[in-house]
Amino acid sequence: MADCIAPSDTAPPLILNGISKAFQQGDRKVNVLNDVSLSLQKGELVALVGPSGSGKTTLLNIAGLLERPDTGQVTINGKATHRLNDREISALRRKSLGFVFQFHRLLPEFSAVENIVIPQIMNRLSRTIAEERADQLLEMIGLSDRRGHRPGQLSGGEQQRVAIARAVANVPAVLLADEPTGNLDPETAADVFQHLVAVLRSTQTAALIVTHNLELAKSMDRVLTIRNGELVE
Ligand SMILES: Nc1ncnc2c1ncn2[C@@H]1O[C@H](COP(=O)(O)OP(=O)(O)O)[C@@H](O)[C@H]1O
Ligand SMILES: [Mg+2]
Repeated sequence: MADCIAPSDTAPPLILNGISKAFQQGDRKVNVLNDVSLSLQKGELVALVGPSGSGKTTLLNIAGLLERPDTGQVTINGKATHRLNDREISALRRKSLGFVFQFHRLLPEFSAVENIVIPQIMNRLSRTIAEERADQLLEMIGLSDRRGHRPGQLSGGEQQRVAIARAVANVPAVLLADEPTGNLDPETAADVFQHLVAVLRSTQTAALIVTHNLELAKSMDRVLTIRNGELVE
């Protein structure tokens, strides 16, 4: 094993410890994150706000093991990640993390239910169990009657609700969402956000959600602001 800290049910789902990240832009080095630390408790919903270019996506990508920090550590469900190889990172990401992006990225050739089933099968669940869970999730997001529709036959808000169901299909420790309603009109955004919160609350899933909408952010347990590379509560 790459590390001796065993995954645990009681460990916080996500710990970021002393994360720094800089990017080279031309001949200039830009410090995007400066010694950022953050811990999410089980079921805790945290909003992340901040001006454009402040490093929200970078922080989410690091938490989601899509990008490595320059310094600092990411711990998922008690498992330290800095010494894991790419294969182990992929497995941990598939098993323990869920992602929702601004653009849904559903598979266009597959129905709503299949889009929720496929990640579970990739995670080695049986088709029967995967379909049962997909149907439960479709009911939670109010789309049972659209289960056979392809993404192109769904509205923008409906597509994003399916993306939310897909993201929690494998019961992740943490859901990471990058402006999940940024592409929707205010009314649809509020509706999708309510479904997101309802699904997260009922499955006790911790989440870090980037949003520009302060009103939606206030329905979370905590709001963190990122400014000059630092997090402020
Ligand atoms: N791969 C990269 N290479 C160089 N600069 C980057 C890269 N990714 C992000 N940046 C820069 O880091 C800063 C933060 O970007 P980002 O995390 O996307 O901000 P936000 O999501 O808050 O709008 C920006 O100045 C951006 O240009
Ligand atoms: Mg961004």
